[in-house]
Amino acid sequence: MIPIIRKQNMPSGAIFSLLLALTIHQTLTADVPPTVVTPETSSPPASPATPGPPERGSYNVTNATDAVCLLARMGLQLKISFISSSSGKTVQEVLNLHPNLVKFSGSCDPDSATLILTEDNITLTFSFSLNSTSNKYHLSGLELSAALPDMTKRIVFRNTSLNYMVGTLGHSYMCQKEKTLSITQDFSLNTFQLQVQPFGVNGDFGAAEECELDEDDMLIPIIVGAALAVLVLIVILAYLIGRNRSHAGYQTI
Ligand SMILES: *[C@@H]1O[C@H](CO)[C@@H](O)[C@H](O)[C@H]1NC(C)=O
Ligand SMILES: *[C@@H]1O[C@H](CO)[C@@H](O)[C@H](O)[C@H]1NC(C)=O
Ligand SMILES: *[C@@H]1O[C@H](CO)[C@@H](O)[C@H](O)[C@H]1NC(C)=O
Ligand SMILES: *[C@@H]1O[C@H](CO)[C@@H](O)[C@H](O)[C@H]1NC(C)=O
Ligand SMILES: *[C@@H]1O[C@H](CO)[C@@H](O)[C@H](O)[C@H]1NC(C)=O
Repeated sequence: MIPIIRKQNMPSGAIFSLLLALTIHQTLTADVPPTVVTPETSSPPASPATPGPPERGSYNVTNATDAVCLLARMGLQLKISFISSSSGKTVQEVLNLHPNLVKFSGSCDPDSATLILTEDNITLTFSFSLNSTSNKYHLSGLELSAALPDMTKRIVFRNTSLNYMVGTLGHSYMCQKEKTLSITQDFSLNTFQLQVQPFGVNGDFGAAEECELDEDDMLIPIIVGAALAVLVLIVILAYLIGRNRSHAGYQTI
């Protein structure tokens, strides 16, 4: 009698824990994606027609001896506010840079590097700095000069105290996800599929250091997996405790 009861208990307990794990997994995976997607779906607050994501461009700067000294691959989108000359009101405009229309240049020095992108009447200048003590680099400055048809005059947005795209010398900085860099009150830059290396380039990109956004992407499956493992463990423990009790019960009889 006793072994039969135990054999019946075992599979039903295992099936129960499997079903529980499956339903929990489904609710968890159903819950997680919307929280990741929300920034995109909740983004349009009365702003004018947004262009789609920008095309990814490849911009390389070479030094005096024709060696590549700065590598950049990215899609760029500008979001600017200015006073419209036609309506007299402040308007917001979102513009994509078009890699096939962009002319690029720049310079490389031991502890500073620049990348200058020009499309029509728009010029965007990236300034990178290297701290030779810590061997860390970062995007320290960004300047946008734009003269759009609806502007009363050419507008310049500049911030020289930024701390974006922090990377280690010899490595590249990578951010696959869309990232918004706030530059001034009236100007922010959205980057897409970005990989840059402003210093220590040796022919091609060094090993990539990923931004927090990309790391978060990998973190979610890890958290879900860990939560599942804990739940399965609890179910197994509950089953074992229950089995021990019933087993003990039979033995006392
Ligand atoms: C250009 O870059 C190469 C490779 O990094 C370096 O060996 C060379 O000295 C640089 N030339 C100048 C003029 O800085
Ligand atoms: C460079 O890094 C060192 C060490 O992290 C730090 O003490 C120093 O202030 C940094 N220098 C600059 C100019 O940021
Ligand atoms: C560039 O600026 C000139 C003069 O301000 C203007 O006539 C022209 O339409 C502008 N081009 C674009 C593409 O905005
Ligand atoms: C420049 O950027 C820093 C850091 O994002 C910010 O605190 C500062 O207000 C900005 N300066 C201007 C002039 O917008
Ligand atoms: C820039 O460098 C990368 C990597 O070396 C290369 O694949 C790409 O074709 C280069 N692009 C340009 C425009 O030189």
